[in-house]
Amino acid sequence: MTNPDTRPLTIVNHPLVQHKLGLMRDKTTPNAMFRQLLREVGQLLTYPATADLALTTRAIDTPLAPMQAPALAGRRVAIVSILRAGNGLLDGVLDLIPSARVGFIGLYRDEKTLQPVQYYAKLPHPLAPRPVILVDPMLATGNSAVAALDLLKKEGAANLRFLCLLAAPEGVARLHAVHPDVPVITAAVDERLNDQGYILPGLGDAGDRIYGTT
Ligand code: URA
Repeated sequence: MTNPDTRPLTIVNHPLVQHKLGLMRDKTTPNAMFRQLLREVGQLLTYPATADLALTTRAIDTPLAPMQAPALAGRRVAIVSILRAGNGLLDGVLDLIPSARVGFIGLYRDEKTLQPVQYYAKLPHPLAPRPVILVDPMLATGNSAVAALDLLKKEGAANLRFLCLLAAPEGVARLHAVHPDVPVITAAVDERLNDQGYILPGLGDAGDRIYGTT
Protein backbone atom coordinates (compact mmCIF):
# COMPACT_ATOMS: atom_id res chain seq x y z
CA MET A 1 0.00 0.00 0.00
CA THR A 2 1.35 3.45 -0.86
CA ASN A 3 0.41 6.44 1.29
CA PRO A 4 -1.80 9.14 -0.23
CA ASP A 5 0.89 11.83 -0.59
CA THR A 6 2.62 9.49 -3.08
CA ARG A 7 5.93 9.49 -1.25
CA PRO A 8 7.45 6.03 -1.41
CA LEU A 9 6.12 4.52 1.82
CA THR A 10 4.94 0.91 1.73
CA ILE A 11 3.12 -0.42 4.80
CA VAL A 12 2.84 -4.17 4.53
CA ASN A 13 -0.59 -5.01 5.94
CA HIS A 14 -0.38 -8.70 5.15
CA PRO A 15 -2.07 -10.71 7.95
CA LEU A 16 1.02 -12.84 8.60
CA VAL A 17 3.17 -9.74 8.99
CA GLN A 18 0.67 -8.08 11.31
CA HIS A 19 0.20 -11.23 13.40
CA LYS A 20 3.94 -11.69 13.84
CA LEU A 21 4.41 -7.99 14.65
CA GLY A 22 1.70 -8.27 17.32
CA LEU A 23 3.61 -11.14 18.94
CA MET A 24 6.82 -9.11 18.82
CA ARG A 25 5.22 -6.13 20.52
CA ASP A 26 4.17 -8.31 23.48
CA LYS A 27 6.69 -7.76 26.27
CA THR A 28 6.29 -11.37 27.43
CA THR A 29 7.60 -12.74 24.11
CA PRO A 30 10.97 -14.40 24.84
CA ASN A 31 14.12 -13.17 23.07
CA ALA A 32 14.57 -16.36 21.02
CA MET A 33 11.02 -16.12 19.70
CA PHE A 34 11.40 -12.37 19.03
CA ARG A 35 14.54 -13.09 17.00
CA GLN A 36 12.84 -15.83 15.00
CA LEU A 37 9.79 -13.62 14.31
CA LEU A 38 12.01 -10.73 13.19
CA ARG A 39 13.75 -13.06 10.77
CA GLU A 40 10.38 -14.24 9.40
CA VAL A 41 9.03 -10.69 9.04
CA GLY A 42 12.32 -9.74 7.39
CA GLN A 43 11.64 -12.38 4.77
CA LEU A 44 8.10 -11.17 4.20
CA LEU A 45 9.14 -7.50 3.93
CA THR A 46 11.86 -8.42 1.45
CA TYR A 47 9.20 -9.49 -1.03
CA PRO A 48 7.77 -5.96 -1.61
CA ALA A 49 11.18 -4.35 -1.04
CA THR A 50 12.60 -6.16 -4.06
CA ALA A 51 9.59 -5.97 -6.37
CA ASP A 52 11.33 -3.42 -8.60
CA LEU A 53 14.61 -5.29 -9.10
CA ALA A 54 15.55 -5.47 -12.76
CA LEU A 55 15.29 -8.80 -14.54
CA THR A 56 17.08 -10.15 -17.56
CA THR A 57 17.00 -13.60 -19.11
CA ARG A 58 19.59 -16.32 -19.58
CA ALA A 59 19.56 -19.29 -21.89
CA ILE A 60 19.07 -22.59 -20.06
CA ASP A 61 17.89 -26.08 -20.89
CA THR A 62 15.07 -27.53 -18.83
CA PRO A 63 14.92 -31.34 -18.86
CA LEU A 64 12.48 -30.95 -21.78
CA ALA A 65 13.39 -27.86 -23.81
CA PRO A 66 15.64 -24.83 -24.12
CA MET A 67 14.25 -21.57 -22.79
CA GLN A 68 15.15 -18.04 -21.78
CA ALA A 69 14.89 -18.12 -17.98
CA PRO A 70 14.39 -14.94 -15.91
CA ALA A 71 17.39 -13.92 -13.80
CA LEU A 72 18.24 -10.87 -11.73
CA ALA A 73 20.11 -8.35 -13.86
CA GLY A 74 23.32 -6.56 -13.01
CA ARG A 75 25.48 -6.71 -9.93
CA ARG A 76 24.46 -8.63 -6.83
CA VAL A 77 22.20 -6.86 -4.37
CA ALA A 78 23.89 -5.21 -1.38
CA ILE A 79 22.20 -5.49 2.00
CA VAL A 80 23.54 -3.00 4.52
CA SER A 81 22.74 -3.49 8.19
CA ILE A 82 22.83 -0.68 10.73
CA LEU A 83 24.46 -2.25 13.79
CA ARG A 84 23.43 -3.80 15.94
CA ALA A 85 19.66 -4.26 15.62
CA GLY A 86 19.84 -4.30 11.82
CA ASN A 87 21.42 -7.75 12.04
CA GLY A 88 18.13 -9.17 13.30
CA LEU A 89 16.44 -8.12 10.05
CA LEU A 90 19.46 -8.95 7.91
CA ASP A 91 19.07 -12.70 8.45
CA GLY A 92 15.55 -12.70 6.98
CA VAL A 93 16.59 -10.63 3.97
CA LEU A 94 19.57 -12.93 3.37
CA ASP A 95 17.27 -15.96 3.51
CA LEU A 96 15.56 -14.63 0.36
CA ILE A 97 18.66 -13.17 -1.33
CA PRO A 98 21.43 -15.56 -0.27
CA SER A 99 23.81 -14.32 -2.96
CA ALA A 100 23.65 -10.72 -1.72
CA ARG A 101 26.76 -8.89 -0.60
CA VAL A 102 26.51 -7.60 2.96
CA GLY A 103 27.74 -4.38 4.48
CA PHE A 104 27.60 -2.97 8.00
CA ILE A 105 27.38 0.54 9.36
CA GLY A 106 28.00 0.99 13.05
CA LEU A 107 26.03 3.86 14.53
CA TYR A 108 25.08 4.42 18.11
CA ARG A 109 22.63 6.96 19.32
CA ASP A 110 23.92 9.58 21.72
CA GLU A 111 21.23 9.32 24.37
CA LYS A 112 21.36 13.06 25.13
CA THR A 113 21.34 14.55 21.64
CA LEU A 114 19.69 11.52 19.96
CA GLN A 115 22.21 12.14 17.16
CA PRO A 116 23.94 9.18 15.49
CA VAL A 117 27.67 8.67 15.99
CA GLN A 118 29.44 6.47 13.41
CA TYR A 119 32.01 4.02 14.78
CA TYR A 120 32.26 1.47 11.95
CA ALA A 121 31.62 1.00 8.23
CA LYS A 122 32.41 -1.91 5.93
CA LEU A 123 30.61 -1.86 2.59
CA PRO A 124 30.56 -4.10 -0.51
CA HIS A 125 32.81 -2.86 -3.28
CA PRO A 126 31.88 -1.50 -5.74
CA LEU A 127 28.68 -0.16 -4.24
CA ALA A 128 27.50 2.24 -6.93
CA PRO A 129 26.14 -0.28 -9.48
CA ARG A 130 24.21 -2.37 -6.94
CA PRO A 131 20.65 -2.14 -5.67
CA VAL A 132 21.05 -1.48 -1.93
CA ILE A 133 18.68 -2.50 0.85
CA LEU A 134 19.44 -0.65 4.09
CA VAL A 135 18.00 -2.47 7.10
CA ASP A 136 17.24 -1.36 10.66
CA PRO A 137 14.17 -2.60 12.57
CA MET A 138 13.18 0.76 14.07
CA LEU A 139 12.82 4.02 12.12
CA ALA A 140 12.46 6.30 15.15
CA THR A 141 13.89 9.84 14.87
CA GLY A 142 15.26 8.94 11.44
CA ASN A 143 18.68 10.30 12.39
CA SER A 144 20.51 6.97 12.05
CA ALA A 145 18.79 6.11 8.78
CA VAL A 146 19.62 9.54 7.34
CA ALA A 147 23.27 9.27 8.43
CA ALA A 148 23.56 5.78 6.92
CA LEU A 149 21.93 6.92 3.66
CA ASP A 150 24.25 9.94 3.55
CA LEU A 151 27.22 7.57 3.77
CA LEU A 152 25.83 5.13 1.18
CA LYS A 153 25.18 7.94 -1.30
CA LYS A 154 28.67 9.31 -0.67
CA GLU A 155 29.97 5.87 -1.63
CA GLY A 156 27.98 6.11 -4.88
CA ALA A 157 24.81 4.13 -4.10
CA ALA A 158 21.90 5.45 -6.15
CA ASN A 159 19.35 2.62 -6.09
CA LEU A 160 18.37 2.50 -2.43
CA ARG A 161 15.49 1.35 -0.27
CA PHE A 162 15.10 1.37 3.53
CA LEU A 163 13.54 -1.67 5.17
CA CYS A 164 12.33 -1.52 8.76
CA LEU A 165 9.91 -3.38 11.00
CA LEU A 166 8.34 -0.37 12.64
CA ALA A 167 8.40 3.37 11.93
CA ALA A 168 7.39 6.55 13.74
CA PRO A 169 5.72 9.30 11.68
CA GLU A 170 8.58 11.60 12.72
CA GLY A 171 11.17 9.18 11.32
CA VAL A 172 9.38 8.72 8.01
CA ALA A 173 9.03 12.51 7.63
CA ARG A 174 12.70 13.12 8.42
CA LEU A 175 13.95 10.41 6.09
CA HIS A 176 11.76 11.64 3.25
CA ALA A 177 12.72 15.27 3.88
CA VAL A 178 16.42 14.46 3.39
CA HIS A 179 16.21 11.47 1.04
CA PRO A 180 12.91 11.75 -0.87
CA ASP A 181 14.16 9.26 -3.45
CA VAL A 182 14.47 6.40 -0.96
CA PRO A 183 11.43 4.14 -0.58
CA VAL A 184 10.58 3.00 2.96
CA ILE A 185 9.12 -0.47 3.46
CA THR A 186 7.71 -1.22 6.92
CA ALA A 187 5.16 -3.37 8.72
CA ALA A 188 3.58 -0.41 10.57
CA VAL A 189 3.78 3.30 11.30
CA ASP A 190 3.04 3.83 15.00
CA GLU A 191 1.64 6.87 16.82
CA ARG A 192 4.66 8.93 17.84
CA LEU A 193 8.02 9.10 19.62
CA ASN A 194 8.34 9.54 23.36
CA ASP A 195 10.78 12.01 24.96
CA GLN A 196 13.59 9.45 24.81
CA GLY A 197 13.10 8.87 21.10
CA TYR A 198 11.37 5.50 21.50
CA ILE A 199 8.45 4.56 19.30
CA LEU A 200 5.00 4.39 20.97
CA PRO A 201 3.41 1.92 21.38
CA GLY A 202 6.38 0.24 19.68
CA LEU A 203 8.08 -2.83 21.05
CA GLY A 204 10.82 -1.40 23.23
CA ASP A 205 14.51 -1.48 22.36
CA ALA A 206 14.83 -3.78 19.36
CA GLY A 207 18.49 -4.60 20.05
CA ASP A 208 17.69 -5.58 23.63
CA ARG A 209 14.70 -7.66 22.52
CA ILE A 210 16.84 -9.47 19.91
CA TYR A 211 19.89 -10.13 22.04
CA GLY A 212 18.49 -10.29 25.56
CA THR A 213 20.37 -7.29 26.90
CA THR A 214 18.84 -4.54 28.99
N1 URA B 1 15.17 2.07 18.74
C1 URA B 1 14.53 1.02 19.32
O1 URA B 1 15.10 -0.06 19.46
N2 URA B 1 13.27 1.19 19.73
C2 URA B 1 12.60 2.34 19.58
O2 URA B 1 11.43 2.41 19.95
C3 URA B 1 13.28 3.42 18.97
C4 URA B 1 14.56 3.26 18.56
